[in-house]
Amino acid sequence: MPGSPAPADKSTAQPGVQRCINSSCGATFGLRERIYVCARCGETLEIDCGVNARVDGRALRDQWASRPARRAGSKAPRETSGVWRYLELLPFEPDAPFITLFEGNTPLFDAPRSAEYCGLRALRLKHQGYNPTGSFKDTGMAAAMTQAVISGARTAVCASTGNTAASLAAYAARAGLRAAILLPRGQVSSSKLAQSLDYGALVLEIEGNFDACMRLVQQIGDEPSVYVANSINPFRVEGQKTVAFEIMEQCNWCLPDHIVVPGGNMGNSTALGKGFQELLVLGLIDCLPKLSVIQAEGAAPLARLFANLDGKGRGRGEHLPEKLDPVENPQTLASAIKIGAPISWKKSLSTVLRSGGQVISVSEHEIADAKAMIGRDSIGCEPASATTVAGVRKLVAAGQIHRDDGVIAVLTGHALKDPDYMIRYHDGTLSFALDAKEASGPLRPLGGAFRNAPRRVAANKADILSSLERRQ
Ligand code: F0G
Repeated sequence: MPGSPAPADKSTAQPGVQRCINSSCGATFGLRERIYVCARCGETLEIDCGVNARVDGRALRDQWASRPARRAGSKAPRETSGVWRYLELLPFEPDAPFITLFEGNTPLFDAPRSAEYCGLRALRLKHQGYNPTGSFKDTGMAAAMTQAVISGARTAVCASTGNTAASLAAYAARAGLRAAILLPRGQVSSSKLAQSLDYGALVLEIEGNFDACMRLVQQIGDEPSVYVANSINPFRVEGQKTVAFEIMEQCNWCLPDHIVVPGGNMGNSTALGKGFQELLVLGLIDCLPKLSVIQAEGAAPLARLFANLDGKGRGRGEHLPEKLDPVENPQTLASAIKIGAPISWKKSLSTVLRSGGQVISVSEHEIADAKAMIGRDSIGCEPASATTVAGVRKLVAAGQIHRDDGVIAVLTGHALKDPDYMIRYHDGTLSFALDAKEASGPLRPLGGAFRNAPRRVAANKADILSSLERRQ
């Protein structure tokens, strides 16, 4: 996919370089190079924006504290956006053409019912579904579209299970760029598809799954006018890493023991890990929170790899495996994470191992019940996000998380991203087949411990009152 790369230009107007993550290569490239993998060895890249121990972390923290999270009436991106608020740690100059839709500044909820369900004294849920297009993608897209404008791109493209598409469509429109989106036909929730259409993107549906879309995007990325907006793009990761900073400000700099995220293409875990690592380098935290990634059982290539790591592989990320065996035909009702060949698996695994976290999978049943429990906490989320609470429950049962630990699960998408799933869960028709053999027979409904089906009632006061009594 590389275009015409050149080595890093130290006199570049922007701060930082793009660096190959392969330590035996370590090639660097200027920030304006429109490349997504290393031109020398083909490995993925990350951005080094000069975060080192010489930077005065405490001064930075005080500066952020004095900057209002959202100043009413302000038009300054640093005072309205939860991404641009942290510009000092981002690879952009202060006069960059910032693209923003008021992303970030999302709530950190207490979730007492979910905590009890997991066997914890307390659980907090960081809800990235409160972003402008309803998912966590918006923080990264603000950075990626700003970079797309700087680099002179005309068209931004992505492969997507739906949320990246909706986010790209919105941010590209705001940036004055064309957006082209590759979707697996029939596998994206109608809410997400509707958003992309409404924001004016060119939506291209292909016969095939997300992984096939991703391969095509990598081929198209060679075109000079095209800008790839998937999380293989390291600027996406830069925007998304700000969630770590926001979490720490919301926790008053009291470090949680565990951060738990869903895993699909593995950009989110990579980004959170990078954010916390930078805070560690700056001396703003003393150690890393354990970062754990949860996949759906039928789409869990990284959990499978993690389970098979030997003692050496389980170290602090120094001995990463060379390759990941993809899941050929991934299956899950959590369509956002129906991914068999995650593009950022190496960066994600390295950050998980460095933190001492886990990569595990949870069943469809566990996801569905966890999602309903998050609903009972008056919070709600889309199915992929609920892997976190299901995963926390499993990690508590396995003794990896303790009852009194400080745990934050990151919810990635809003409940209304997939209303069809919710209705089917509550009316008892949600069903799933793990493979083609199972799918050929009659599908078994998943059941569901917290079902809450609508009831028909006669249109009169007496029947309504008797329904209320029965409910109590
Ligand atoms: N949760 C939601 C709601 C998602 O949409 C995604 C990914 C993930 C979790 C997984 O995050 O890929 O960074 O590990 N959605 C992508 C998309 C693939 O196209 O919208 P990840």
